[in-house]
Amino acid sequence: MTPTTPVTPAPRPARTPPLAEPSGWHEIRLTVNGAPVTAQVESRLLLSDFLRDRLRLTGTHVGCEHGVCGACTVLVDGAPVRSCLTLAVQCEGAELRTVESLAPGDAPLTPVQRAFHECHGMQCGFCTPGFLMTATALTEQDARPDDTEVADALSGHLCRCTGYRNIRRALGQALDATYADAEPEE
Ligand code: FES
Ligand code: FES
Repeated sequence: MTPTTPVTPAPRPARTPPLAEPSGWHEIRLTVNGAPVTAQVESRLLLSDFLRDRLRLTGTHVGCEHGVCGACTVLVDGAPVRSCLTLAVQCEGAELRTVESLAPGDAPLTPVQRAFHECHGMQCGFCTPGFLMTATALTEQDARPDDTEVADALSGHLCRCTGYRNIRRALGQALDATYADAEPEE
């Protein structure tokens, strides 16, 4: 009988340290849709979850959850931000606006909302809150954005229904209405 060669077991890989527990809780103070908000939040809490689950502002939709679709866009200090890529703690001291801030209660539709309505800029509506917030930011600039800026802004949003044509028409109508009285640029 041939003697068998002793087999030396391979060394066991070093044990992976366990994932760290959330590093803690923080008090944040911010303004959401014009109202002051103070909240205790975990370090890792996403802004989208904070808005939807803690503040019950479910108009902000969550689609891809990794910054691709734009459905979760809100305005932070006037700038469109993807709330699925933003931590709630990053908004300390900020002024936030969600889609619920547009025409609250019985207020008339904003020019952007009216244009999306009149141009049929939506079908299922899942992407619409994100488009509305980005479009709102475009109508709040000092000067009318040019075609490149508009295309850049829209490129951050996905819509699976409309084919974008009516969304672009709606945005054009909203910009026409907003900047109608603006001085033409030299
Ligand atoms: S859910 Fe945030 S970009 Fe898609
Ligand atoms: S209207 Fe359905 S995804 Fe845009």
